Amino acid sequence: MSPSAVPLPYRLDVHPGIASGDDLAHDAWAGLTGPFKDLPPKHFYDERGSDLFLRITELPEYYQSRKEMQILRALAEPLVARHEPVELVELGSGASRKAEPLLAAMTARHGGVRYAPFDVCPEVLLASAGRLATAFTGLRVHAVAGDFGMHLGGLPEASPEGVRLVAFLGGTIGNLLPSERTPFLRSVCQLMRPRDLLMVGTDLAGDPDRIRSAYDDSAGVTAEFNLNLLRVLNRELGADFDLDSFEHVALYDPVPPWVEMRLRSARAQVVSIERLGMEVCFDAGEEMRTEVSCKFTRESVAAMYADAGLRLVEWHTDRDGWFGVSLAGFAPG
Ligand code: SAH
Ligand code: AVI
Repeated sequence: MSPSAVPLPYRLDVHPGIASGDDLAHDAWAGLTGPFKDLPPKHFYDERGSDLFLRITELPEYYQSRKEMQILRALAEPLVARHEPVELVELGSGASRKAEPLLAAMTARHGGVRYAPFDVCPEVLLASAGRLATAFTGLRVHAVAGDFGMHLGGLPEASPEGVRLVAFLGGTIGNLLPSERTPFLRSVCQLMRPRDLLMVGTDLAGDPDRIRSAYDDSAGVTAEFNLNLLRVLNRELGADFDLDSFEHVALYDPVPPWVEMRLRSARAQVVSIERLGMEVCFDAGEEMRTEVSCKFTRESVAAMYADAGLRLVEWHTDRDGWFGVSLAGFAPG
């Protein structure tokens, strides 16, 4: 058998829409030509951005990942016993670390468990799909690289039997603008049949200093992650952003509440974006928003589900009440 014919232990589909750079070009045009500059956070996550995010999850200041893992480790077995899911679809799966306790509990209970990780970064999927397919005996992995705002139709059909659990972890729902949440959740509902469940991780509102520090770590990894957006623009769109002349900014705003990450131009400058044939002027001190990270309460999570026609079924937090993991299902009737 030639090396290229060796069967992979998983399947990876890449949606054609993510390779072209058209979406980044569109967002750069829309986000950099108005009076208030902003870019959507999905463009952080090339291979380097995904690695930087993984490093963020290990920082002392970034409590979110540790807290959510604590919740998932305690929750996985009883949840699987209660709801008997046989399939896990994970949106924004990244390195798939959070899927591990869920898959361990699912494969211990049933044979033939399926895992469908979905992420905008094909490289992170390639690494995690291979790792999980070999770590869990009998697990079938079908990964899909795409944008969860546009390409959810590329996910495999739910099998007619058994419960599908759709997970959206890490607090990534907080990176959507409030106006984007209901349409997004409605599109997620299309992946679910009446008895299926949605599991969402949400960072919870609380001490502003603690929360802000999670986005401004002393080692400077979050700053590197933020600046990575400029590297992506330089590489993909032929832009000439000088990374040394932009500074990382993290602000906590108690209303909505959210953290905003921005990049501040240290001087007046003109940046050229070759692929768009355009020049972008920055004043000294001008800021461009690169991410919002919304913080929630149990009530705001329940209201978010209700707006999308879902019902909060279970609510779990860590001991300190810093992070929440909720389960939702279709509202009866
Ligand atoms: N769930 C993981 C990773 C969270 S980081 C965890 O909790 O640790 C956010 C993940 O969402 C990244 O892997 C990123 O590539 C992915 N992502 C961000 N925007 C996306 C989009 N629009 N479509 C698909 N994936 C996206
Ligand atoms: C992926 N997402 C939930 C992270 C967050 O906390 O909003 C992304 C991040 N940005 C800076 N640090 C981490």
